[in-house]
Amino acid sequence: MRPKPVILDVDTGIDDAFALMLAAKHPALNLLGVSCVDGNCPLDQVVRNTLLVLETADRSDVPVALGAARPLVAEPNYALAVHGDDGLGNVQWTEPKSKPVKPFAVEFLRDLILGHPEKVTLIPVAPLTNIALLLTEYPEVKENIEQLIIMGGSAGLGNATALAEFNIWHDPEAAQIVFSADVPTIMYGLDVFYDVHIGERELIELQNSKNTTAKLAGEIGKYIAGILGYPITIGDAGAVCAAIDPDGLVLETYPTTVVTDKGPARGMTVVDRRPYRDTVENERALPDARDVSVALKVDSHRYAKLWLETITS
Ligand code: RIB
Ligand code: CA
Repeated sequence: MRPKPVILDVDTGIDDAFALMLAAKHPALNLLGVSCVDGNCPLDQVVRNTLLVLETADRSDVPVALGAARPLVAEPNYALAVHGDDGLGNVQWTEPKSKPVKPFAVEFLRDLILGHPEKVTLIPVAPLTNIALLLTEYPEVKENIEQLIIMGGSAGLGNATALAEFNIWHDPEAAQIVFSADVPTIMYGLDVFYDVHIGERELIELQNSKNTTAKLAGEIGKYIAGILGYPITIGDAGAVCAAIDPDGLVLETYPTTVVTDKGPARGMTVVDRRPYRDTVENERALPDARDVSVALKVDSHRYAKLWLETITS
């Protein structure tokens, strides 16, 4: 099998780093490039953290582009309390020597997608500002996108707020543009996000590893364990696992939309799971919704093993 061409859109952060390590090292994927957006931390730190992780994984050949430094409408709201002041667990590590490419991420993504001979799988694990700008400015890219595997949203509770997941909540207007675009979409949301995790023993083994990628994962994982306790979720890396091994997910297709008003549900992904929804009167159907494949269950052990085996290889 030829490696699957993928692109990641990141706000590197600790679990984005876990996702980058997997995408950079797994032989079933051809990581064409990475675009950066503000989210967990400001854009300049996202870029530095992304370059650092790729350089540590000996993948400085992967081009990295700067994208949006702020949401389309909302004010930025970073998650430094969870990811550390530098967005990468304040890890003491060698500063990256590699530099980002010159083009803005939106044109970078357009050129990567349209320039590839096969359809590309786009894996946003961050606020969707770059992806919304891409689909709005260059809708022709849709013809060469195999699917979107979005880490974001929730069919149940939120994490940034009672009802909204952080990536959607950070830029709801962008998320609504992406969720309403006619591109095959898997929503890898909070319904599975926390289920793929590693415990203290595995984390200590990573910290003691001679493999620099594994050691970096152990060091940054130690930080988030200190904040949120054990086990620690591999988070965004689960969305990359889905690109490698889709059979590890249970998916159901539901009409889904994003709340963009300023009330308590702002940033919520509303997933209409009513079994009778097709029989209700049209005016009671979910407005502005599109069918999305929602991940409801995950084979946690299968994905945790996939991630650990790859980053220690
Ligand atoms: O809600 C979790 C998501 O928000 C993850 O992508 C994490 O990195 C943050 O961006
Ligand atoms: Ca992220």
